[in-house]
Amino acid sequence: MIAPDDLPVLLRLLVPKLRRAGHNDPTKPIHSPSVARNVPKLQNAPGTWNRRRGQWKSSLSITQPGPQSTDGYSGFVDLLRLLRTLFSDRLNVIERMGAETPRIGRVDYGRVSIVLVNTPELIPELLIERAEDFVKGPVLRVVARPVFGDGLLTSEGDLHRQRRRLVAPALAHQRMGRYADVMQEHASTLGDSWRDGETIDVVAAMMRLTLGIVCRTLFDVDMPDQAEAIDRDITTAQTYAMRQLRVPFPLPQGRARAALGRLNDRIYGIIRDRRASGLDKGDLLSMLLLARDEETGEQLDDHAVRDEAMTLFLAGHETTALATGYAWYLLAQNPQYFERMRVEGLPFALQVLKESMRLYPPAYVIARSAARDTEIGAFPIRKDEIVLVSQWLLHRDPRYFDDPMRFDPDRFLPERETQIPKYAYFPFGGGRRICIGNHFALTEGQIILNNLAQRFSMQILARRPLKFQPLITLRPKGGIQVRLRAVAQG
Ligand code: HEM
Repeated sequence: MIAPDDLPVLLRLLVPKLRRAGHNDPTKPIHSPSVARNVPKLQNAPGTWNRRRGQWKSSLSITQPGPQSTDGYSGFVDLLRLLRTLFSDRLNVIERMGAETPRIGRVDYGRVSIVLVNTPELIPELLIERAEDFVKGPVLRVVARPVFGDGLLTSEGDLHRQRRRLVAPALAHQRMGRYADVMQEHASTLGDSWRDGETIDVVAAMMRLTLGIVCRTLFDVDMPDQAEAIDRDITTAQTYAMRQLRVPFPLPQGRARAALGRLNDRIYGIIRDRRASGLDKGDLLSMLLLARDEETGEQLDDHAVRDEAMTLFLAGHETTALATGYAWYLLAQNPQYFERMRVEGLPFALQVLKESMRLYPPAYVIARSAARDTEIGAFPIRKDEIVLVSQWLLHRDPRYFDDPMRFDPDRFLPERETQIPKYAYFPFGGGRRICIGNHFALTEGQIILNNLAQRFSMQILARRPLKFQPLITLRPKGGIQVRLRAVAQG
């Protein structure tokens, strides 16, 4: 578990990496004049944007697999370029790589390199068959660890396996019936507060709604007033870590420490109250507090419970909020589907949700680091190399989806969904680390969409293309503003 006081751990994790990436002499400080002289100017951008074709023409060195291409480390690209491109504009980097990588390819950044797997057939090798050869990628490790500690999302190996066994029963398919009532009730309450003609940020509204649902279903507490404060604190902590990744000097940590401190206070408060009450409420928190390791008989201490609770608390609301937020955004531009939702109900709401996650996958990239030298599709991967697979790329790939940019919920009619190639669509990942909350998210998302669409339509206010924030999930910058239209009740 990492407390606010441990925030400098980010720097300890990062600075040696930056040094390795930037120059060959690790004894020299990163900002020494000799290094600065070697750093190409920033306008040396690795490619140009072709507006007409809407494509990036990259000049990065991309190595495709083939008999002659086993060694892809060609040329030195500077540290600043790596950090700038990787962490300031992740979607853009991924798109540029995707445009030049039909199967699998490597981008060299001097001594650091990234491999992109861009075809569904190879994904099981990364996530299932050779999963032992990989650990979670560096962004998640560095950005998420201070908040999630050793929770499911960030732990590895035996610890991960043990925790997954403990948490899984609380999120199993069979438990969804109980949770569905809470989801329905919270969605209805939100609908009661909406007014015809009102303008709202629908993503912020979905964040508050899903946070309320996760608090009630998993921890049996209601904290609607605190929802926004929690969301702000999470963003502050993650934004700090993301910014720190981009610069080679320590940033002031005051706000991030304070935010983490507040988050910890809240979660430990919930744990303390539950222990004091001695009640088994049958929710996730009780399951975590009472769970015993089958082999050792040990119970989770407060730190471990905090890490799992925090993980589910955060992983369990933001992603679903984004999925439903983007669904409203797409529906607002395709109002005919509001009507179908009213007529067809939950099954069509599920189709809308799935199609929205195709176009705007809340988790848009899965990253792994190679723990040892290995290979994927006979393409050699070196120890410590970062390997990416991207839902953003594959979900929008014309090789697997006709007219991919068109919003068409009927792609997910049951008889058509089965024709989508496996891993061309994978919003919840795959293999042993597949999203443990996927049933929860699908149940929740379709209930929210169906419930609110019975009472309201939405109009989009600005038809500008969305911009995104490069955090772990695909958040729209500035939210999504819509005008509510109450449906005449017949
Ligand atoms: C639309 C909503 C959601 C999406 C798109 C989503 C997506 C994902 C993805 C792609 C992963 C795998 C990451 C990787 O392999 O690196 C993941 C893991 C995880 N998700 Fe979700 N998720 C959603 C909702 C939820 C919910 C509702 C919960 C909890 C209630 C949750 C909890 C988790 C946890 C704990 C993990 C880590 C699992 C492990 O490594 O064993 N997620 N999620």
